[in-house]
Amino acid sequence: MKNILVTGGAGFIGSHLVRLLVNKYPNYNIINMDVLTYAGNLENLKDIEDKENYKFVKCDICDFEKVKKVFEEYEIDNVIHLAAESHVDRSIKDPFSFAQTNVMGTLSLLQAAKNYWQDNFEGKLFYHVSTDEVYGSLGEEGFFLETTAYDPHSPYSASKASSDHFVRAFQDTYQFPTVISNCSNNYGSYQFPEKLIPLFINNICNNKPLPVYGKGENVRDWLFVNDHARAIDVIFHKGKLGETYNIGGFNEWKNIDLIKVMIKTADRLLGRAPGTSDKLITYVTDRAGHDLRYAIDSTKLKEELGWEPSLQFEEGIEKTIKWYLENQDWLHNVTSGAYQSYYKEMYK
Ligand code: NAD
Ligand code: TYD
Repeated sequence: MKNILVTGGAGFIGSHLVRLLVNKYPNYNIINMDVLTYAGNLENLKDIEDKENYKFVKCDICDFEKVKKVFEEYEIDNVIHLAAESHVDRSIKDPFSFAQTNVMGTLSLLQAAKNYWQDNFEGKLFYHVSTDEVYGSLGEEGFFLETTAYDPHSPYSASKASSDHFVRAFQDTYQFPTVISNCSNNYGSYQFPEKLIPLFINNICNNKPLPVYGKGENVRDWLFVNDHARAIDVIFHKGKLGETYNIGGFNEWKNIDLIKVMIKTADRLLGRAPGTSDKLITYVTDRAGHDLRYAIDSTKLKEELGWEPSLQFEEGIEKTIKWYLENQDWLHNVTSGAYQSYYKEMYK
C-alpha cells in the first residue's frame, strides 16, 4: 500500500495522471490536492471520483499549515507534484501569482514532506513535474538534453526553473529523495481552452478568428497527454533518485503548419467543405519574449527506462479534435464566467 499525494490533479495533465494511477493501482491511495483555480475542474475526474482508492482534498499548496495537516492525515509517503500556474500569456500579465504558486508552493510542499518524513527517507519520493521551457529557446538546430543549462525567458518558465532548483537543493542539501521530469508541450482532452490547441479547436467550431502570434513560425514539440501520464508512471516507479528525465515525442511542428492540420481535420469532422475555416487565420502581435523553438531529446528515458510514446501525432490530434467536438458541454462550462473577461482582455 502506498499513499500518494498528487498535486494539481484536477488540471489537464494531473487529471489524466490521477485517472491512470487510480485505475491501474487499486492498492495505492491517490490523494488529489488541488485548490481549483480557473484551470482546475473536478468534472475532469467524474469517472473515478467514487473509487475507494481516490480522495480529493481542496487545499492551496502555499498554505503550509494546511499542507502539513494533509501529510499527517493521509500518511503521505510519495508526492507527485503538478500543481502550478501554467499559462505563459497569463504569466506575462501577472508574474506574482506564478512566483507564489510555482516557487513558494513547491517550497511549501518540499518542507512539509521533509518535516513529515522526519529525515527518514526510506521508501519515500518527491517527484516534481516540470517543463522543457526551463531550457530556454533553440535555434533551427539541436535538442534540449537533461544537461542543457537553464535559460528561462518567460515569468512562467523562470518560476518553473526556480522550483526545479529548490527541488535539487533539497536533494543535495538533505539527501531528500527527488526525481524531476521536464516535458514538452502536451495536447489532448481536458486542456483548458486558453492554450493553443483547445483554443483553436473551440474557435474553429464557433467560426471565431484564430489569433496566430507573429508569423506562426515558432516551433513546439507536441506530446499526447496520456503518453506524458504513462511516462510519469514509469519514472515514478523506475526513475533513479536525484535524476532528471526529459519527456518528448520527437514531434516538432511549426505553429502555422499545426494550425493548418487542425483546420483540415476539424472541417472534415464538422462536415464542412475543405478549406472553409482557412479564412479564420488572423495574424496578431507576437507574444513578448516568444521562444522560437522547443525540441526535447528523450533518449535517456527510452534507453534507461524503456518509455516511448504510444501514438503518432496524426492519430492523437484527430482523437483530440473529436473529443472537443463531442464534449461541447465541458467546453461551454469552462469557457463561461471568468474566462470571457480573460479572453476579451487578452485578445482585444
Ligand atoms: P493546468 O493549468 O491545467 O492545471 C494546474 C492545476 O493546478 C489546476 O488543477 C489548478 O487548480 C492547480 N493549482 C494551481 N495553483 C494551485 C495551488 N496554489 N494549490 C493547489 N493547486 C493549484 O496545468 P497542466 O497543463 O496540467 O500542467 C501541470 C504541470 O505540468 C505543471 O506543473 C506544468 O508546469 C507542467 N507541464 C505542463 C505542460 C503542458 O504542456 N501543459 C508541459 C510540461 C510540463
Ligand atoms: P501555448 O499553448 O500557450 O504553449 P507554450 O507557450 O507553453 O508553448 O502556445 C503554443 C504556441 O502557440 C506558442 O508558440 C504560442 C502560440 N500561440 C498562438 O500563436 N496563439 C495563441 O492564441 C496561443 C494561445 C498560442
